[in-house]
Amino acid sequence: MKAVTWRRLFIFMVALAPFGWIFYRTISQQLGADPAKTIVLFTGEWAIYFLFASLAVTPLVRSAKWRWLMPHRRMLGLFALFYALCHVASYLVFILGLDFSRFFAELVKRPYITAGAPAVLILIALGATSTKAMMRRLGKRWQSLHRLVYVALGLAWVHVLWQVRSSYFEAVIYGILAALLLGYRLYWRQKMARKKAL
Ligand code: HEM
Repeated sequence: MKAVTWRRLFIFMVALAPFGWIFYRTISQQLGADPAKTIVLFTGEWAIYFLFASLAVTPLVRSAKWRWLMPHRRMLGLFALFYALCHVASYLVFILGLDFSRFFAELVKRPYITAGAPAVLILIALGATSTKAMMRRLGKRWQSLHRLVYVALGLAWVHVLWQVRSSYFEAVIYGILAALLLGYRLYWRQKMARKKAL
C-alpha cells in the first residue's frame, strides 16, 4: 500500500475515535448526570475541532511545506460535517425527542441555534460538492463556494459565543484561532496579488 493510503487510513481511524469513545460511553452508561447534553456538547466540540483542522491544512502546506497533508484536507472537512450532523441529530433526538415544531420554535427563540443552523447547511453544501467530479463541474465557482467554510466557522464561533454562561475561555480560544486562519488567508491573498503586479 502507498504511504498516502496508510496515512488516509490512519487519519480515518483517529478521526473516528471520538465517535467510538462517545458510543462506548453511551452503551456503558457513563455519560454522567445529563447524558443527552454530554453527547450534544461532545459532538459539537469535535465538529469545530475538525473544522479548524481542515482549515489549518492550507497554511501548513504553504508555510511549513507539509505537502503530505493536502490529500487529507477533504477527509478532515468531511469529519467536521460528520460530527456536526451527529451534534444536530443528537440534539433533535435526545433533547427535542424529534419534535420538529419545537426545533423551529428554538430556531427563532435562541440566537445561538439561529447561528448554528446555517453553519450546518453550509457544511452540508460543501460536503456534497467536495468530490473531484464536482470540482471539475463547478470550475472556478468551486473555490468561491468553498470559501463559505469561513462563514461556517464564523457562524459556529458565534454559536459558541452566544451560549456562554460563565467562562469565555473556550469562545476566546476559538475566536483567536479563527482570526489567525482568516488573517493568514488574507495575508496570502495580498502576497499573491503583489506577486502578480510585479
Ligand atoms: C442546527 C444546528 C445546531 C444546533 C441545533 C446546535 C445545538 C447545540 C446545543 C443545544 C448546544 C448545547 C448548549 C448547552 O446546552 O450548553 C450546542 C453546543 C455547541 N455546539 Fe452546536 N448546534 C448546531 C450547530 C453547530 C455547529 C455547526 C457547530 C460547529 C461546527 C457546533 C458546535 C458547538 C459547540 C462547539 C458547542 C459548545 C460545546 C461546549 O460548550 O463545550 N454547533 N449546540
